[in-house]
Amino acid sequence: MLLNASGCLDALVAPDVARQLDGFVTKTITPLPREGNAPPRIAETAYGMLNAIGLANPGRERFLSDTLPRLRELDLPLWISVGGFCAADYADTCARLHDVEAIELNLSCPNVDEAADSAAEIVAACRAATPLRLFGKLSAAHPDVAEVARAVAAAGADGLSLINTLRGLALDPGTLQPVLARGVGGLSGPSLKPIALAAVHACHAATGLPIVGMGGITTAQDVVEFLACGAQHVALGTVLFADPDAPLRIREALAVVQADDGPLAERLREVRANALA
Ligand SMILES: Cc1cc2nc3c(=O)[nH]c(=O)nc-3n(C[C@H](O)[C@H](O)[C@H](O)COP(=O)(O)O)c2cc1C
Repeated sequence: MLLNASGCLDALVAPDVARQLDGFVTKTITPLPREGNAPPRIAETAYGMLNAIGLANPGRERFLSDTLPRLRELDLPLWISVGGFCAADYADTCARLHDVEAIELNLSCPNVDEAADSAAEIVAACRAATPLRLFGKLSAAHPDVAEVARAVAAAGADGLSLINTLRGLALDPGTLQPVLARGVGGLSGPSLKPIALAAVHACHAATGLPIVGMGGITTAQDVVEFLACGAQHVALGTVLFADPDAPLRIREALAVVQADDGPLAERLREVRANALA
């Protein structure tokens, strides 16, 4: 299954791009509206970018009353990314969601303690609040992401999304001051890929849960590498800003790989046979 990475596509602004995907993942929704950080909030880096959007979103109430009904009109499986600052924040939003494909719990929000216990506590609270499929989105910044994955699995997660951005800093070469108003930001794009592959591999081995792999995917070869490491689904993030037709391009290239007889085609067939939806 080919998805977008949360925060990297607005399906209401670009419905044609969203329709190239097998499902649409929303920007993370928090209980209260958030304006996000002051601009500049985006900086280019070698092989990637930094963002410090700061989880700008309309908040839960407006999302439920306004955004979600409009997203439903797209007639695409919807994955709702849920964020918060304590377990109850997440669980309250989960309890209000119905008739969606899955919930992705953004367990790598700023200000949320990423210790294995707290991620597990959030998942347990959400598990009690909803029968919907729960994917825990983890950060590879934790020294042992597989440990967090095991804790999240034990707390009742149905799957994992790996990985979120990693903290980075970009300086203006002229002034040697940070490019982003906030200073640091989240690094995304191709420079993340080896870290993401390692996280997917470790978490797959630790839990066997379905995994949405992401981090620097730009080509069909990247997709196959994530699948080879144990991902069942993949999500496109930063690539969508430069190449909105990436889902089509990658799908076409995957079809070519699949027509082959090699180990990549075999892995693609295996994943397709076990696909969730
Ligand atoms: C501009 C931008 C906004 C993002 N917003 C969110 C978000 O709201 N929630 C979330 O879980 N991840 C968010 N992410 C992280 C992506 O979903 C993804 O995990 C990360 O960018 C790695 O994938 P990529 O290298 O393909 O971009 C954001 C990333 C970018 C670049």
